[in-house]
Order: sequence, then structure tokens, then C-alpha cells
Amino acid sequence: MHVACTGAEVAGFMALHLNMVEQLFIEPAQQCRGIGKQLPDVAKAELPAGFYLTTVQQSRAGRFYERESLQPGEISIHPRLGHQIIRYDWHL
Ligand SMILES: CC(C)(COP(=O)(O)OP(=O)(O)OC[C@H]1O[C@@H](n2cnc3c(N)ncnc32)[C@H](O)[C@@H]1OP(=O)(O)O)[C@@H](O)C(=O)NCCC(=O)NCCS
Repeated sequence: MHVACTGAEVAGFMALHLNMVEQLFIEPAQQCRGIGKQLPDVAKAELPAGFYLTTVQQSRAGRFYERESLQPGEISIHPRLGHQIIRYDWHL
């Protein structure tokens, strides 16, 4: 787990598990300030052999990951919630 802070305040977090980014959230009031884009760089440093994640298809998060050089891949259905999700991979 990596926590992003602004001063003494927690602004967001990223949870890594094996070669997967399981969670990445920035607190709404802290979004659009360039905080989120620092976390994929941490994942790249911690997982230099590559990693993947899934997120909602055609979402702001997807555009965010594509800007951070993650490659869009397979589209599937979320196993519990039933909406479409897309896999993103990062490799050197
Ligand atoms: C997706 C998410 C992690 C991005 O985090 P963030 O801190 O807002 O990201 P950044 O600030 O680095 O960039 C996001 C946007 O702000 C813009 N931005 C970055 N720095 C900026 C600045 N200084 N001033 C104005 N805008 C800025 C970026 O261009 C980008 O715009 P876009 O969304 O229109 O493409 C965050 O929005 C989030 O937690 N969303 C909800 C949860 C979620 O979807 N998580 C991913 C699930 S896998």
C-alpha cells in the first residue's frame, strides 16, 4: 500500500498485489492536481517487470492510464457488478 500525502493530509492511495494495481484512488477534493499521476510511476518502479489493472471502460481513469503509457487490452464484465471493464498493461 502506498499513500499519497499533501502535508499531513492523506490525499489518496494505491494498493499493489503481486503484479496488479488493485486500487488507486485520489480523494475527490484533491483530484486534478497532478497527485494521481505520481502513483503509476511508483508502480513502475516497484514492478519493473510489468503490471496490470482493470477499470471501468471508457472512463476518465482509462484516459488517465493511457496518458501514463499503459496499454488497453481485453474488455470483460465485472464478475460481481456486471459492468464492462477493461484491462490495462504496462511493460517497459
Ligand atoms: C483517476 C484518478 C486516480 C486520477 O487522479 P488525479 O490526481 O485526479 O490525476 P491527475 O491530477 O494526475 O490527472 C487527472 C486530470 O487532471 C488534469 N490535471 C493534472 N494536473 C493538473 C493541474 N495542475 N491543473 C489542472 N488539471 C490538472 C489532468 O490533465 C487530468 O485531466 P483529465 O481527467 O481530463 O484527463 C482519480 O481521478 C481518481 O481517484 N478517480 C476515482 C477513482 C478511480 O477511478 N480510480 C481508478 C480505478 S482503477
